[in-house]
Formats: sequence, C-alpha cells, structure tokens
Amino acid sequence: MTTKSQQLLNWVDERFPLTSTWKAHLSEYYAPKNFNFWYFFGSLALLVLVIQILTGIFLVMHYKPDASLNASGIPVAFASVEYIMREVPGGWLIRYLHSTGASAFFIVVYLHMFRGLLYGSYRKPRELIWIFGTLIFLALMAEAFMGYLLPWGQMSFWGAQVIVNLFSAIPVIGPDLSLVIRGDFVVSDATLNRFFSFHVIAVPLVLIGLVLAHIVALHEVGSNNPDGVEIKKKKDANGIPLDGIPFHPYYTVKDIVGVVGFLIFFSAIVFFAPEGGGYFLEYNNFIPADPLKTPPHIAPVWYFTPFYSILRAVTYPLFGIDAKFWGVVAMGASVVIIAFLPWLDRSPVKSIRYKGGLFKGILAVFVVAFFILGYLGVLPPTAGRTLVSQICSVIYFAFFLAMPWYSKIDKCKPEPDRVTSK
Ligand code: HEM
Repeated sequence: MTTKSQQLLNWVDERFPLTSTWKAHLSEYYAPKNFNFWYFFGSLALLVLVIQILTGIFLVMHYKPDASLNASGIPVAFASVEYIMREVPGGWLIRYLHSTGASAFFIVVYLHMFRGLLYGSYRKPRELIWIFGTLIFLALMAEAFMGYLLPWGQMSFWGAQVIVNLFSAIPVIGPDLSLVIRGDFVVSDATLNRFFSFHVIAVPLVLIGLVLAHIVALHEVGSNNPDGVEIKKKKDANGIPLDGIPFHPYYTVKDIVGVVGFLIFFSAIVFFAPEGGGYFLEYNNFIPADPLKTPPHIAPVWYFTPFYSILRAVTYPLFGIDAKFWGVVAMGASVVIIAFLPWLDRSPVKSIRYKGGLFKGILAVFVVAFFILGYLGVLPPTAGRTLVSQICSVIYFAFFLAMPWYSKIDKCKPEPDRVTSK
C-alpha cells in the first residue's frame, strides 16, 4: 500500500473499526478447510437477498398498489405490472429476475437447511444460528406470501383469500384477526396496500436484521463442517485452528465458483423459462383478479405446498373445534418444530458421515415424504390423495418427535479428531 492510502486507512481506522472488522470476519476468520458443495448455499442466499432488494427497488418505481379499475376495466395494480413488462425499458428483465428470485430464494434456503440436517449444524454451540435461521424462514414465507398478492391476478387474490380466511378458524380472536390482516371484510384495496407496505419495507427490514444476527452468531462460534468436528479444539501455538483457513481469500474465491454456477442456472430460467412451467408464475395469475369468479383450483406456489398439504391433511374436528383450526395448528407446528432440532437430536456425532443406518434411513423417508407432500399440495384433493398426505404428515412429524429416541439408539461410527480432507 502506498503511504498515502495507508495514511487514509489509518485515519479511518482511528474513527471506525474498518481493518479490525475486515480481519475478524474475513482475512482472519478461520473456517474449516473441508467445506464442500453444500457450503455454497449460505453465500448464495445472501446473493439472492441482494438481487431481490435491488430488483425490488426498481419495481417499486413503476408498480402501483391500487385495486381500483382503470379506464379499460383492468385493476391498476395488474395493469402496472403489465406496463413494467411491456413498456418500461428492461422492465421485463427486472420483473423476471424478481419473480424467479423468489423461487430461487426458496430452492437455495431449502438446500441450505438440508445441509444443516446433514451435518448437524444446528447442534451445540450453534443453536442460536439455527433459531435465527428458522425465524428467517418464517419471515421469508411471509415476504413471499405478501409479495404474491401485489400483481393482483386471480391466484394473488384467491390465494390470499384462502390463506387469510384460515386465521378466522382460530377460536375467539380468529374473525377479528383476519379482519385486521385484510383491513376489510374481503381481500380488497386495503389489503393490497398493507401487504405492499409489509412486503417492501417491514418484512425486508426484519429479514436483514435476522440475517445479520444469523451471521454474527455464526462468527461467534465458528462454522461447522462436513465432518461435524469442532476445529477450535485443536489450535497451533498462535491460537489458530489447525484445520482452519482464512475465509478471505480461500472461501471468497471458492464462493465465486458457486455464484457463477448459480447464475448460469438462474439466467437459464430467467431468459428461457421464467414461468417455471407454471410453478414459478402460475398461469391463472395472468388473468386480472376478479372477486366474482373463483378459479376452479386454487394452489399456492410450490414452496408453500408441503406445508399446505399438512394443513389439508387434517380433516377431523377435535374437542368440538373445526378441522380447519387444527389444520392451521398442524401447519404452524410443522414450521415451528424445525426450531427445536438442536434439542431433539441426541446422536453422539453431528455429521451424517458418522451416523448409523437408522438415522440415514429415516432421513431418506422424511425427504421422500416431504417431496410427496409438496407434490400433493399443487393438486386438487381427492380421498386417495388426502390419505397419502395424512400418511406423509405423520412421517413428517414422526421424523422430529421420534428423533430423541432413534438418534440415541442409532449405531454411529466414531467421529475423527481432525477434519478429513477428501
Ligand atoms: C436469507 C436466508 C439466509 C441467509 C442469507 C443465510 C446466510 C448464511 C451464511 C452466509 C452462512 C455461512 C455460510 C454457510 O455455512 O453456508 C450460514 C450458515 C448457517 N445457516 Fe444460514 N442463511 C439463511 C437462512 C437459513 C435458514 C432458514 C436456516 C435454518 C433454519 C439456516 C441455518 C444455518 C446454519 C445452521 C448455518 C451454520 C452452518 C454450518 O456452520 O455448518 N440459515 N447462513
């Protein structure tokens, strides 16, 4: 560094912890040397968050949250999205980046969470990283749900109608609660305005705050790795973990590989299949919202469908309360239960590499059940499908609730002392 730039840096450092922050979180943050493919998804989630915020800023410049009809009888909100797609220079690209970004966010986050399951990344001392993660997941679901109302298409309208109505099944407070959420007796302009406000400012602020907390907690305890070995247990004379390498430049460079791979996949969808076969953008949503015409089949976007299936699987009333209420409870519980994993897993080892056949087998069954639930959630219910989703819902909950038992009796291999490099 030249003396001039060094002087400038010193000037800044005396007033702001720039160099010390860079060192603590990048050049002297020691990460395990054996990160694999699964460790790309945290930085990719950050990348998608940035894509969503940047494209969102430009969308807001042209979008209008207004349910009233324009001179052609089209809702203003719907027409403003069409205007973005057809008239605004590059508008189609910004919109497709944002709509594909929503699905990409969930793909990346589901893989990121699955990595946590594979390597026991939620175990002590990373419980808080996991809890912040579960809260991020909840916030992300709220963000996606409210964003989906904004184009004011048939699916936006009727999807919101179905989901907000669910809250009215809660005894005593339910009807008032759904009224507060909607701001009206039906989904209307008031709903569109409050969802817009939550989608563009309130929830993103919460999300950013949670992501910061997630990373601060991670850097406090250090990253886990595919062997589930704590690298901080074996340090050299300078206090540097023997199996650690500085995050920068090693993982900043490695993460670029993940970013490039992701961008190839992401651009392929944005440019060649932005509708994602009707899964990323549902065809019914190309029709303006019509409160007088219910679509024959209302299905949520793919990333909600496993949980939606659990909701629909509950068909029996209990204690004199409607099945709909218990469905909502089951759906809520199916997300909240994820936060309890750190205390449900009693295995002596963290990583799947050293876990026994029992855990591996049960995890495989859980994954299959989760996919089946996801698939059934996009289809209209029949008696047969409801039965299958009931079986898969039981498997889903059993995976978590029986974990203290099967993770304890599972025959694990001994964990190595140091990480293995493969
Ligand atoms: C916006 C969403 C999210 C972002 C931006 C994000 C970001 C990150 C980043 C950058 C890392 C470090 C790199 C890595 O280990 O891959 C990380 C680690 C981690 N995240 Fe997330 N995350 C998000 C959501 C979640 C969710 C939903 C969960 C779980 C419910 C979760 C659980 C974890 C865990 C357990 C670790 C530590 C992994 C380890 O050390 O093995 N994250 N996250």
